[in-house]
Amino acid sequence: MEVTLKVLRFNPETDTESHFEEYKVEADPMDRLLDLLHEIKWYQDHSLAVRRSCGHGICGSDAVVVNGVNRLACKILVKDLPSEITVEPIRGMPVIRDLVVDMEPFFAGYRAVKPWLITDDREHEPDRERIQSPEERARFDDTTKCILCAACTSSCPIFWSDEEYVGPAAIVNAHRFIFDSRDSGADERLQILSSKNGAFKCRTAFNCTDACPRGIKVTMAIQEVKQAALYRSV
Ligand code: SF4
Ligand code: F3S
Ligand code: FES
Repeated sequence: MEVTLKVLRFNPETDTESHFEEYKVEADPMDRLLDLLHEIKWYQDHSLAVRRSCGHGICGSDAVVVNGVNRLACKILVKDLPSEITVEPIRGMPVIRDLVVDMEPFFAGYRAVKPWLITDDREHEPDRERIQSPEERARFDDTTKCILCAACTSSCPIFWSDEEYVGPAAIVNAHRFIFDSRDSGADERLQILSSKNGAFKCRTAFNCTDACPRGIKVTMAIQEVKQAALYRSV
């Protein structure tokens, strides 16, 4: 079958604004959108800039907007798409070239919430593993699934207008540690997330939950973090 891809292109060396370019590609229904982008880049137009690595929904590097919806190019099949497909870079971050955006605003929010284990005894290595019950582990299981693809943050209307907002992915990753029984940095993180650029900027638009390729209940995680910040219910 033949499909038509309309890809939003931008070359900072020659363009003042982005524009769509159209490509015809012969595809199998079980091809991934990433295969079609490879077909264009390798055989039709070498200048197309695409970011990807694993090809299997793990590295989170190929989030793009497909027919208006945030998706991972490696996780969407041709059979689930119409024969005319538009592909654009994710929104809310500066475009470096074509489908490649500058992820720094996204990672700035991520770094801000200290997404690592914080323990009371920071000076000494423990002499045994930190024990956790299955129930304690289950408390934050959903938010361990994040692959930092930015599909959530780049679909959030608050982030589009204010990149100082830490964004849903940062809050998801804060959640992963705030509710971890081995961690003692909850107060630090909740203080950060109670600041003006933190979790309370969220207006429960739910775009983030719809966009997450890992099926994480992003908005629920944000609500749990807000509640913990208000009531320190960790
Ligand atoms: Fe991607 Fe989901 Fe993580 Fe957001 S929460 S960065 S959409 S995996
Ligand atoms: Fe944005 Fe998700 Fe909140 S889309 S407004 S972070 S529920
Ligand atoms: Fe790694 Fe798609 S290429 S998630």
